[in-house]
Amino acid sequence: MANIIKRPGWHIPERFVTPEAVFLNRRRFLTQLGFAGAGLMSASLIGCSKSSSDAVAAGAEPKAAPAPISLKGYPATRNPEFNPGWPLTNEKTAANYNNFYEFSTTKERVIKLVDKFVISPWPIQIGGLVEKPMTLDVQELIDQMTLEERVYRFRCVEAWAMIVPWTGFPLAKLIEKVSPKPGAKFIRFQTFNRPDQAPGMARQSDYPWPYTEGLRLEEALNPLAMVVTGIYGKPLPKQHGAPLRIIVPWKYGYKSIKSIVKIDFIETEPPTLWDTINPVEYPFESNVNPKIPHPRWSQATERMIDTGDLVETQPFNGYGKYVEPLYKKA
Ligand code: MTE
Repeated sequence: MANIIKRPGWHIPERFVTPEAVFLNRRRFLTQLGFAGAGLMSASLIGCSKSSSDAVAAGAEPKAAPAPISLKGYPATRNPEFNPGWPLTNEKTAANYNNFYEFSTTKERVIKLVDKFVISPWPIQIGGLVEKPMTLDVQELIDQMTLEERVYRFRCVEAWAMIVPWTGFPLAKLIEKVSPKPGAKFIRFQTFNRPDQAPGMARQSDYPWPYTEGLRLEEALNPLAMVVTGIYGKPLPKQHGAPLRIIVPWKYGYKSIKSIVKIDFIETEPPTLWDTINPVEYPFESNVNPKIPHPRWSQATERMIDTGDLVETQPFNGYGKYVEPLYKKA
């Protein structure tokens, strides 16, 4: 694990959406480029202010939100290659500090807003440029895979971090199952689109929902890339992206899309929710890099969400030995 360079006692405001001054400058910049995205930009502004529409009764106790998914396979055996002996982040802290904009832009509120979210049955559609397209329920997919546990570092672009035991299987195994055709160069992942169950979607209705993300096929085949169905030895609670998400630990957290319903193999780089809203701040590749500051967050250090320790950020979030070859220029 990286060096601790400072103990608690400070806090940074965290919000993906952009402060007004930055927004106005960016709009000027985009207008010069001829980008017709003013509507989207105003969506990102709306997110800056707290809305009462998703408010929960003041003082309500945060409730756990268990997923009605089979416990078969949990806890899974930990993969010895990803068992580094680092202290794990406190489970409850992680479960009460979530980025899941479909529900709220306030991390501590997400857990309070997921009750109506239905995660079973959960059909997943896998298609595009593949020999064997399929639609199957998440439980059917899980039943066909061998679950394993891996302890990974997780780094958000907002400069916070955690160390978490994820349960799942290599994304490469899912790719193998559908046999991509030679033309498949990218994978696009898509989240559910249910404003009736997810109040953040209704409140920020001019965001380019549903949340989408993407990877190059070679990135997705990297052994680190994981399809995740559980955390801390149990199925994923709703606020962590039940019933199925991906984790790509060498990239900023927004690439690790939650609650996936659709996976497509395609020929060209897909637009993502965040690079549609702001391609300068959230480019497609988004590998963790302490040397490239985000306009609002230095990326040199990160704050552990439970202890508040400030640690040095490592290139590729410490996973360079696995992924550096992917980014070597020919
Ligand atoms: N996936 C969806 N569908 N919606 C989101 O808002 N937020 C992303 C990512 N995946 C997000 C998402 C961001 S910004 C982060 S940091 C991580 O989820 C947070 O994951 P966690 O809440 O499980 O810690």
